[in-house]
Amino acid sequence: MYFTLLSAVALASRACAFPAQPEARAAAAGVQFVGVNIAGFDFGCSIQGACDVTRISPPLSNLGGADGVGQMQHFYKDDGMNIFRLPVGWQYLVNNKLGGTLDSGNFGRYDQLMQACLKTGAYCMVDIHNYARWNGQIIGQGGPPNTQFANLWSQIATKYASQQKIIFGVVNEPHDVPDIDKWADTVQEVVTAIRAVAKTQMIALPGNDWTSAKMMPTKSGPALLKVKNPNGTYDGLIIDVHKYLDSDNSGTHTECVTDNIGDTFQPLATWLKDNNRKAILSETGGGNTDSCKKYMCQQLDFLNQNSDVFLGYIGWSAGSFSSSTYELSEVPTKNGNSWVDSALVKACFTKKK
Ligand SMILES: *[C@@H]1O[C@H](CO)[C@@H](O)[C@H](O)[C@H]1NC(C)=O
Repeated sequence: MYFTLLSAVALASRACAFPAQPEARAAAAGVQFVGVNIAGFDFGCSIQGACDVTRISPPLSNLGGADGVGQMQHFYKDDGMNIFRLPVGWQYLVNNKLGGTLDSGNFGRYDQLMQACLKTGAYCMVDIHNYARWNGQIIGQGGPPNTQFANLWSQIATKYASQQKIIFGVVNEPHDVPDIDKWADTVQEVVTAIRAVAKTQMIALPGNDWTSAKMMPTKSGPALLKVKNPNGTYDGLIIDVHKYLDSDNSGTHTECVTDNIGDTFQPLATWLKDNNRKAILSETGGGNTDSCKKYMCQQLDFLNQNSDVFLGYIGWSAGSFSSSTYELSEVPTKNGNSWVDSALVKACFTKKK
């Protein structure tokens, strides 16, 4: 999601009761992956890909932050979740040195979260939360050359080459990228760099328009479909999409107005089938409200019913957000030795085994 100034100041806590109907949802065959984002290492990243590394908030209690490790263990054990997306700013990973090597201290802290994620048994997705940019400049289109971004990925893939459960999410929410074919070239360079060291892990390919699920078939999709593995196959190359359910699809409002099925997920499913590809919804979310529970459960049911093309979905967001003030909080709270889920997670995100 884009963490705007507006959303940062317009914090409001909402809560209400709504009877969940898990029995009805259990009938669908179901997607492979259900999970939540564990945000915090991305805090301070603007939609211009400018990340103020002093504002990160590692979701690691041993560093004085939120208990992201406990959250993941709870989600995995109690809710059957099996994927977590771990956003991080590019600047943080290289300690502000564009083109530099991974900063051992900063990468080491991020890796603590990654290792804790893997230890749960879940799949874990790296997300470079940079909106296709470094400090306002678009990668490969006036900003850092593709080689610099591919080099970042080469270093990350080298560290994680032996971990089959790590998914490489190329970059969060490209937007206002002028040339989609050039953007596909950028993604191709990243894929080629990753595949030089990590042959089989999944790589999530993001399109323009904030990775819009709605725009994918017509806008970004045709260009992204050309991105290949070095051997010419598409194995492991999955389409990354985001979608929110509020009035402007921004993920900043607590009320939801649509299930996104008719105008987004149905056409996307058809497009994926036609092109023999699969997608992951790596961000979706809403407030802990009746409207969001209703529409979110409907949306996710549709994905479950179309699990031939939808690999899964990942809610936004748990991690370092405040469970009491963040509009889209999926942060569970601790009650003695047990965890209590947010209303939306409880209603729609628990995976039926
Ligand atoms: C082609 O490359 C992909 C990605 O490295 C790999 O998963 C797949 O097994 C390869 N296929 C063949 C036929 O070599």
